[in-house]
Formats: sequence, structure tokens, C-alpha cells
Amino acid sequence: MIELTKTGIDGLDSILNGGIVKNSTTLVSGNPGAGKTIFGLQFIYNGVDQFDEKGIFLSFEENQEDLREAAESIGLDRWAEYVDSDQIRIYDKRELLSDNEFSTSLDLILDDCKDSEFERVVLDSLAMFELFFDDEKERRTYLLKFTDILKENGLTTLMTNEQGAVFPKSDIGLENYLTDGNIYLLQTPTESGVNRYVWVAKMRKQKIDTDIFPIEIEQGGIKVHKNASAFSMMNEDEYPL
Ligand SMILES: Nc1ncnc2c1ncn2[C@@H]1O[C@H](COP(=O)(O)OP(=O)(O)OP(=O)(O)O)[C@@H](O)[C@H]1O
Ligand SMILES: [Mg+2]
Repeated sequence: MIELTKTGIDGLDSILNGGIVKNSTTLVSGNPGAGKTIFGLQFIYNGVDQFDEKGIFLSFEENQEDLREAAESIGLDRWAEYVDSDQIRIYDKRELLSDNEFSTSLDLILDDCKDSEFERVVLDSLAMFELFFDDEKERRTYLLKFTDILKENGLTTLMTNEQGAVFPKSDIGLENYLTDGNIYLLQTPTESGVNRYVWVAKMRKQKIDTDIFPIEIEQGGIKVHKNASAFSMMNEDEYPL
């Protein structure tokens, strides 16, 4: 039996046929404003709020206050309370990039990850995380080490990733192969605003619904509509997220 970790996001768990495979690492890709951080906030918040699972949020982009404000703006009202009671542990960029060597900060976090108290991790974002490595080899080695440690310790992880196109012209990054799941958040401009979509492109070990579904970001966060969209990716290699 494959164990599943529910995101608790309306409509998403059913597309995932029950949830994200427990103990896996899923890449959440999309362009700026697509909703990646909100997805991460909901994953961690719902873990505590609905499933009694503690979470770690590694934020290379926003600081503690930004995250709290973002969470509260979509109605995750008990965010601050869960942070205060250490059910949600946040490492924001100030700590991650403090006087310490970056590797020292990371070792500290990895120690937390080894602590079986936590079950969910969000790394927001992989692009920023990778900026701290000077050379490609070191970057790959650390990414492998990191995903291994998360796996060995039973954590279910989301890594957000800025990706400008679903099928980029340049090489598809290592992270796409390293991770067990791949979820895209897409947004397209329309005359009246933007249309948002979610596409679960990959989830190892799990039968998934690979249709593209419309989503909205509103009070309560991301909501997935049940009817698959008549969405087509005609120009696959150029299609922007
Ligand atoms: N309280 C809210 N109500 C409605 N929509 C919101 C709310 N908060 C955020 N949004 C929408 O969600 C978008 C931002 O989502 P989010 O910060 O998760 O994007 P992101 O993919 O993480 O972007 P980036 O790559 O810049 O980090 C905003 O552009 C806004 O349109
Ligand atoms: Mg973000």
C-alpha cells in the first residue's frame, strides 16, 4: 500500500488520486505570481490544521513576516499560532543567509529534518537555493544529499521552482528527474485578468489525472475546479506558464 499525504487543497487531492505520495519530493513549477508560495503555505498549514503533521518552511525569498501576511491574507488565520507553538518551523532568508557559512545553516536545517517530529517540508525556492552554490558540481551534490536526507527521514517535500516554460528550449534541469512528482501552476493573461491552471504532470507510483484543471486563488487559498479545462498546448516548446 502506498501511503499518501493529503495537501488539503480543495480539489487537488482528488486529481492526485488521494494525495502526494508520502516520503516523496515534488517540484512545484511556475512563473512569478503563479501561486507557488501560496501552495507551499497551504501544504504546511493544512498539515498542522487538518492532519496533525508538523512542517518546516524554508523561505529563501520572503521573510517570516511576509509569509505570515501572505498566509493571513488568504485566510490561514492560525498561521502565527502554529509558528509560535513550533508546529510550523520557518527558516527565512535572514537566518539562511546570516553570518554563518551557508553550509552551516543548511546542516542545522538538515538536523531538524532528521528529527522525526516533522513530516512536511517546503523549500521556496529551489532557484534561490541553488544561487548559493558556486559551481554546478557542488550544487548537484548538495541537491542529491538534501533529497536523500529528506527521503531517509520520512519527509514529504515540495520544492518550488521558477520555470518560464513548460517545455523549455534549454535543457530540462536535474531537479525534474530527481523529484518524484511534478506539478505545474500555469497562468495566462486574458482580457479580463488572468486564468490560472494546475497540471499534475508526474507523480511516481501513483495513478494521477493528467488533465489540466482551472484554479482560483481566493479566501481559503487555491481552489481547484472539478471540470478539466479545454486547454491545449499547441506550441509545446514555447508555451509560457
Ligand atoms: N489574498 C489573496 N487573494 C487573492 N489572490 C491572492 C491573494 N494573495 C495572493 N494572491 C494572488 O496570488 C499571486 C501570488 O502568489 P504567490 O506569491 O504564491 O506566487 P509565486 O508563484 O510564489 O510567485 P514568485 O515566483 O514571485 O514567488 C498574486 O500575484 C495574487 O494574484
Ligand atoms: Mg513565491
